[in-house]
Parts: sequence; C-alpha cells; structure tokens
Amino acid sequence: MSSFPTCDNVSNLITNNAGQYNPANGFGLANTSLAFFGNRLYALGESDLPYSVRLTSNGDIETLGRHDFNGKLLGSLTAHPKIDPETSETFAFRYGPVSPFLTYFYFDANGNKHPDVPIFSMTRPSFLHDFALTKNYAIFTDIQIGMNPMKMIFRKGALMGYDPTKVPRLGFIPRYAKDESEMKWFDAPGFNFMHAINAWEEDDGNTVVMIAPNILFIEHVLERMDLIHAMVEKVTINLKTGLVKRDPISTRNLEFGVINPAFVGKKNKYVYAAIGDPLPKFTGVVKLDVSNGECRGGTVATRIYGPGCYGGEPFFVAKEPDNPEAEEDDGYLLSYVHDENTEETRFLVMDAKSPELEIVAAVNLPGRVPYGFHGLFVRESDLNKL
Ligand SMILES: [Fe+2]
Repeated sequence: MSSFPTCDNVSNLITNNAGQYNPANGFGLANTSLAFFGNRLYALGESDLPYSVRLTSNGDIETLGRHDFNGKLLGSLTAHPKIDPETSETFAFRYGPVSPFLTYFYFDANGNKHPDVPIFSMTRPSFLHDFALTKNYAIFTDIQIGMNPMKMIFRKGALMGYDPTKVPRLGFIPRYAKDESEMKWFDAPGFNFMHAINAWEEDDGNTVVMIAPNILFIEHVLERMDLIHAMVEKVTINLKTGLVKRDPISTRNLEFGVINPAFVGKKNKYVYAAIGDPLPKFTGVVKLDVSNGECRGGTVATRIYGPGCYGGEPFFVAKEPDNPEAEEDDGYLLSYVHDENTEETRFLVMDAKSPELEIVAAVNLPGRVPYGFHGLFVRESDLNKL
C-alpha cells in the first residue's frame, strides 16, 4: 500500500474542510503503507491513527478499526515505523502543523506504547515522512519542505511549501529518551530526504552512517516530481565534531530504497531501489553495494521491466529469515509491475542474489495495483496470529 512523497496531510485536510467526513470517526486514508507489530497488522497513513486490519479466510482484507493503543496513541502515526529485528520493538513518531511539531515514541515487543517524547527543538513545522534507527538513536530530519497552516486556513496558499531559508538538519535522540534533553541536531546542508533506507553506528562510537536518497531540486517535489532527482547517498555524521560528510552511492535517479529487514539499524551491504525515469514512474530496480562506498561504483545488479512497464517499491524477503548465518542478499525481491501497453499487472519475484535480478516467478493479477504504494510481506505464521 501507499504513495510516494505523500501529500496525505494536505489532501485529507482539504477533504475534511469540504465537510465530507466526520473527523471524529477517522480521516486518514490509511493507504501509505502497512506494518506488522505486536501481533497486529496495520494500514498506515501519517495523518491519522493506524487502522487495524486482518486477512479473512477467503483472502479479503477486513478493517477492524482505528487503533489508539488503549488511549495511549494521542494522534497520528508515521507510515514508516521502524522495527528492531533483534528486540522486536517498534519505533515511531508523528508530526504536524501545531506544536510540538514532532513527537517521538516507541512500542515494546508486545505492541504496548511508551509515553510520548515531544520534540520542541523542532522549531518550525516540517514535512517529516520518514526517519532512521540505529542501535542507540532515532534520527530525524528537518528538511526544506515546511508547513504553513495559516496560508491554508486563509486560502493564501498550500499547507506545505519549499523554504529556501532553511538549512536541513539531522536530529539524534537516544532510543529510550524520556525527554529531548539529550537530543542533538547537526546541520546537513543540501541533504533533503523523504525516505531513509538504513543507518548504523560504526565501531568508534562517534560515527553514524546513514543511507538515503537525497532529493535534489526539492523545490519541485510537491508539484513537479518529474523534475526532481533522488540520489542515494552515504551520509557520515561525526557525533563528536558535528561534521556531516556526504558521498553519492549512485548517480542514478533512485527512490523507494529497501534492505533486508533483518539489518534495520545495523551495518549492511545491499540496498535495492526503484529507478525513477522520471519520478514517480519506476522503470526497474537496482541492487547497490553501499560498502563500495564512495562514489558511483555501487550498482551491482539491474533489472529493467521493459518498454511501457513500470514497477513499484521493491521488497526484500529472505529465503531463511530464521537463519542468522544466511547471507544478507540470499532472498527474493518482490514488486508489482504494470504494463501500460496491455493494461496488465504482474506480481514479480526476482532472485536478489543473481547478477541480473532474474525473474523466478511472475503472477498476473486480476486488477491493477496503482503506482507508488509501499508494500509489506507478511509471513503466514504472522498472519495466523491475527
Ligand atoms: Fe513513504
């Protein structure tokens, strides 16, 4: 499910203003992504509570309802929560146009929500669609897309817009912080990301590495996505000196980057990302080796879907998810691909280890899956817990 650089908040507020819905009954589209944690499956849209859903015996999706975690989730939930593969804790946040503009929180392995940590050092409302997690930190961004609710209320412009006066920042808060007193912000000029891919801490204890597609020409992201270029970068942050160093991994236009979920928050080697040509259409997928480091040598495999065929976000599924000795790329890449010539949609399964991301299975679907949705693979054993 879902959509690229989402404008959920904007579209929802417009819809609500038109009086079509009673916001008390929920107003989110719940169509940005899915998450499975605490033995529940959620449909997520970042402007509302999560919607609990389940798979019925005949394969339909049943909506169980908005879920507020026993009254502890006091507002919306990001569509990109991060699940620690070792602790099974889920880390998340919400953002919005009124103070506190950012609120951080987490859930334990059973899905119990811990208290909110309001982040008042986020001094202006900012578009904050995704974040990153390391062993000890949650990492937030403060990009040059800001929010101005007054403009929308007085019909003088859009809620969100480009702010050329801002210098993008990265904010580090300890995972289990009870308040923001230990949060540190570092200027990261020129680094505007919508989706993070992964982050980890190096052994020296001072260095954090983050992998994310940097949105170049971000001023066009809300209206002319075809003009932007998303470049996957390796960003190195020295927590002691505050120095932020950026290196491109690939010069291609790449978004919707994913990894083997077992490596969330840990040093990893492989990234799979969709090829924008131009965004928001994706003509294929690449496999990057981010350990090749610095500069443009990172592409190790490519799959182009063919003329008139466009895919979505890839998703990596390990062949042996319970085998700690399994190689990081020993698994499958999944994606939906739509053929605009025939109007047919296929579900593709690719061998993530093969040099050409070989297609090992293709299933024709009875209906089209719209472009730009995030996806989730849920194991049968997890579905049975619902
Ligand atoms: Fe997203």
